Amino acid sequence: MSLFGWDKRLATGIDSIDAQHRELFQIAKGLHDAYRTGDAKNAVTRTLNYLVDYCLTHFEDEEAQMKAMGFPDLAIHQEEHRKCLAHILDLKDRYAGGQSEVAMDLSVLVSRWSKQHIRESDFRFAEFVKSIAPEPF
Ligand SMILES: [Fe+2]
Ligand SMILES: [Fe+2]
Repeated sequence: MSLFGWDKRLATGIDSIDAQHRELFQIAKGLHDAYRTGDAKNAVTRTLNYLVDYCLTHFEDEEAQMKAMGFPDLAIHQEEHRKCLAHILDLKDRYAGGQSEVAMDLSVLVSRWSKQHIRESDFRFAEFVKSIAPEPF
């Protein structure tokens, strides 16, 4: 699996979440490519902001689903999202402060972190959903 690739091993089986995960990897790849190929700074900035916003939206959507389903590990999961977001926002600030190379770190962080988080934590939610609703979403 490439750094920004999504494949079935990352599928939770919850379509709305899987669609957002796929998009997340696409945007992270877009940021990586934009920076690496030397796109104009405003193109990199736009992609970076979009990636940060998309992460935020995804975390909020996931947590809303967890809350609605009564997922018992919601607080633990929220904390993982919060820590990742803090890291992302720190990199975003550094980028805004002129450290443009941070764009690469951000794309790699989102991709690596997401793969591990999906497999360990999002999967736990998917298992929970399956255990209470055989045909989720
Ligand atoms: Fe999550
Ligand atoms: Fe997720």
